[in-house]
Amino acid sequence: MNDLRKLPTDRILVSPSVLACDFSRLGEEIARAEAAGADVIHLDVMDGHFVPNISFGPPVIRSVRKRSGMLFDTHLMISEPARYAQAFAEAGCDHLTFHLECPEPTGEVIDTIRKAGCTVGISLKPATPAEAVFPWLDRIDLVLVMTVEPGFGGQSFMAGQMAKCAAVKREILRRKLHVQLEADGGIDEKTVRTVAAHGVNMVVAGTSVFRHPAGMETAIAKLHAAGPLLDSEL
Ligand code: DX5
Ligand code: ZN
Repeated sequence: MNDLRKLPTDRILVSPSVLACDFSRLGEEIARAEAAGADVIHLDVMDGHFVPNISFGPPVIRSVRKRSGMLFDTHLMISEPARYAQAFAEAGCDHLTFHLECPEPTGEVIDTIRKAGCTVGISLKPATPAEAVFPWLDRIDLVLVMTVEPGFGGQSFMAGQMAKCAAVKREILRRKLHVQLEADGGIDEKTVRTVAAHGVNMVVAGTSVFRHPAGMETAIAKLHAAGPLLDSEL
């Protein structure tokens, strides 16, 4: 099993979102991303309830798990993450990020994910303030700041989320925690510089990686080149 806790937090890690790939060839697309230099793979799970879109769930993940040894960075945009955590872990997910805004009690979701054997992330929608995640920081491995409204790929980057990224990063550093700070939505070779300058060290990128005109290897290399930024710059 891959362990997110072993990944560094002082350089840019790239997590291509398969939402932008050709689903009829999902296994090959993930292998293509790995060969092109991806650090982990981002799997966007949507239930048509927490977000107004439906993507895929444990059966699809179980089947691609047979074709890939990469760390599956799973983003659960679902109303009941605790209810399904075990199913995602059994399907082969290494890491589960759930939304702080889901109705299940946060502490219970964290414990359930840990018990299922996965590392834990909390994601914040654009309207949720940085401080909302502070009480949970020492119990999780990753914070995912949404830089679009969750639900769809290919949306425009929200620069207004940068103060939140910097606030979360400052708190992580202040408490000396090993927590990944990830941003998701509208990230490309330009916006990656903005997120890196605000303390983000893991970037999700769908459209800009899977559909880059110069190919995926160039796309990922350009994302990697954005960091690391010095903590003193925050
Ligand atoms: C949005 C998803 C994102 C999305 C990113 O709800 O969480 O992961 O796929 O796609 P791009 O990079 O195209 O904005
Ligand atoms: Zn995502």
